[in-house]
Amino acid sequence: MDAREMKIKAARAALAHVESGMRLGIGTGSTAEEFVRLLAEKVADGFKVEGVPTSERTARLCVELGVPLKSLDELPELDLTIDGADEIDYDLRLIKGGGGALLREKIVAAASKRMIVIADESKLVRMLGAFGLPIEVNPFGLVSTRIAIEKVASKLRLEVDLRLRQSGGGDFTTDGGHYIIDASFGRIPDAEALSYELNSIPGVVEHGLFLNMAALAIIAGPEDARTLRANR
Ligand code: 5RP
Repeated sequence: MDAREMKIKAARAALAHVESGMRLGIGTGSTAEEFVRLLAEKVADGFKVEGVPTSERTARLCVELGVPLKSLDELPELDLTIDGADEIDYDLRLIKGGGGALLREKIVAAASKRMIVIADESKLVRMLGAFGLPIEVNPFGLVSTRIAIEKVASKLRLEVDLRLRQSGGGDFTTDGGHYIIDASFGRIPDAEALSYELNSIPGVVEHGLFLNMAALAIIAGPEDARTLRANR
């Protein structure tokens, strides 16, 4: 079974948690897009749902496939968000933002009663950090913000390699008009401390550590999809 089939399997299992009439946050990335495709099939059969997309990319796919959308201002409180992740540990801490949508993803997940994360088994890790942590930053004061992130790493005794994300020959820009610095730490032994310190840097708009947000993770392997629950 290839990665795409596992993503579809996780997405299908997540769909079972979606009830008719729900206000649904809809994530970004290739796994979330498999979820959108399956959801669209149900909508075409008459299933009622209202979605709030976490990116322009997801919004375009939903419109193309006929999934009804509202803005977060129209539906400020959501029942459930389904989204992918770049890394998931066994306490359901996440790294997100590989697709550059972490700010809207975090706002939408925080506005939801529950978040379910869907992924193939390659995303499940003992410790976060092999995937570079996406940090969304304001373009103003980029060099100062970069230095501040390096100081945070040094305070927490972490090695870090920072790269300004590039796309199509230029700086990658998020839907909110910000840049992304991908911070490769290698390992993040204390995600809570790192999150706290990054949040204290004024030029950091948001970072890709999603802590205490996911209630369930549906992880698909070649054999089956298993569900991990948060201990909270
Ligand atoms: C986008 C994200 C995605 O959920 C994450 O990058 C996983 O993507 P994929 O399902 O394509 O592996 O956080 O900002």
